[in-house]
Amino acid sequence: MRRKFIVGNWKMNTSRASAIELAKVVAAGVGSSGARVAVCPPAVYLEAVAATLAGSRVELGGQNAYFTNAGAFTGEHSPAMLKDIGCGLVILGHSERRQFFGETDEFVAKKAKLALENGLEPIVCVGETLQERQAGKTFEVLRTQLLGSLQTIEATHLPQVVIAYEPVWAIGTGVNATPEQAQEAHAFLRGLIAEKYGLPLSKSLVILYGGSVKADNAATLFGQPDVDGGLVGGAALDAKGFLQIVAAGA
Ligand code: 13P
Repeated sequence: MRRKFIVGNWKMNTSRASAIELAKVVAAGVGSSGARVAVCPPAVYLEAVAATLAGSRVELGGQNAYFTNAGAFTGEHSPAMLKDIGCGLVILGHSERRQFFGETDEFVAKKAKLALENGLEPIVCVGETLQERQAGKTFEVLRTQLLGSLQTIEATHLPQVVIAYEPVWAIGTGVNATPEQAQEAHAFLRGLIAEKYGLPLSKSLVILYGGSVKADNAATLFGQPDVDGGLVGGAALDAKGFLQIVAAGA
């Protein structure tokens, strides 16, 4: 049985004070059992949030990391640095990074490899745009992105990889994929993993859904057989709502 996993992606939001407060309320509210939970604050607040989460079961992740561990890469931070300050996870290949910062599958694959080598679990994001969906290209796009982004990943590392299906048209729009649409995409992604890595690894792979997950739709989305939890943006900035989403994954 795959355990549900709920991850809050705070994106470029919060202040130092509000990040600490949000982390504090989430840590106090998650209880001792239920879904696995993580938050991914902005990089500059990671250390403050790490201190706030100390002793709680809420895990910490970065929103991005580069594909070398040190060097002349102004403005970047490495997987080793994330690990150093207490992260266990890193989101990679989010559609906002693909769209606004030109990240390609090959680039994401290099980052995922180094993240794994540094003991971080990459949350590798894939998802089609509205235009691609309307053109009937959803599966083609998902295949290219998933296999491209995992091209560096050996089967032995797959158990440390998390996939997030985030249809671009559902991100920040308030229009979530229907449970049926999410299930269809997740089953397709799991099938691709089965082809490449074999059935047992595909069965244990955690695939999160992201895109307008909220307290009132989380339970139905997470109730789908291939949906193993959520990567939550906007709704993760409200502690009460986020905790309700966590509870929906219990
Ligand atoms: P929203 O939950 O705000 O739609 O964002 C989803 C997302 O991009 C999480 O990574």
